[in-house]
Amino acid sequence: TSKRKPLIAGNWKMNGLGSSAPEFVTVIGAYMGPMRHAVDLMVFPPATLLTSFATATRGAGVLVGAQDCHPEPNGPYTGDISAEMIADAGGKAVIVGHSERRADHSETDALIRSKAEAAFRAGLVAIVCVGETADEREQKRAAAVVGEQLQGSLPDAAKAENLVVAYEPVWAIGSGLTPTIAEVEEMHGFIRAELAKRFGAESDKFRILYGGSVKPANAAEILTAADVDGALVGGASLKAADFLAIAKAAQ
Ligand code: G3P
Repeated sequence: TSKRKPLIAGNWKMNGLGSSAPEFVTVIGAYMGPMRHAVDLMVFPPATLLTSFATATRGAGVLVGAQDCHPEPNGPYTGDISAEMIADAGGKAVIVGHSERRADHSETDALIRSKAEAAFRAGLVAIVCVGETADEREQKRAAAVVGEQLQGSLPDAAKAENLVVAYEPVWAIGSGLTPTIAEVEEMHGFIRAELAKRFGAESDKFRILYGGSVKPANAAEILTAADVDGALVGGASLKAADFLAIAKAAQ
């Protein structure tokens, strides 16, 4: 078991309407029992639901956040949302550098780093995502790619309180495929070692989440792997029962 409190985070991606609120209320209700002492829970709905979800969870301990932010606090950036706006809406965290944004919006490590810095300035926790593609793994470049992403995307000001790293192998996202437990442990150990090089003793406190096809059926095995401090869950986070089953497996 990990010496760090596990964190189970649900990334709803571009899913969810006002009618999804009962699903989230079920999660809040279950979390208010003994679970809250053992596990931290975060939910990242689409930005349209951020305010209502933040209001629904007030005092209940489930934190909500956004899936991306702009590096600037405000300005002429049509369609974007700043870290300050997320905080103002009741958000406590933001995901930056998800592989879908790296791929679909050509986000670079430098941009992701500036987004994480913006998150810190606004008092938010940044969940910075890293992970290799199938080709990169086949070419035995997975660690090199992840090392470079960490080097480029993590701000110098990162602390265990404001930074979480999520390792999401791109080929495992939404595919039903997962690395072996040995592969997960190897990469999480590598990430921990990279954090130690850069942040010294603090590195022991950072939480490193695994993401990519986490389901109730594989959660226990993944969550008890060495250096895995929780999960970033996509598809299975949309159903309260599945998300709660994963959270239970983290206890
Ligand atoms: O951010 C979480 C995500 O990319 C994993 O998605 O659907 O494979 O759990 P999924």
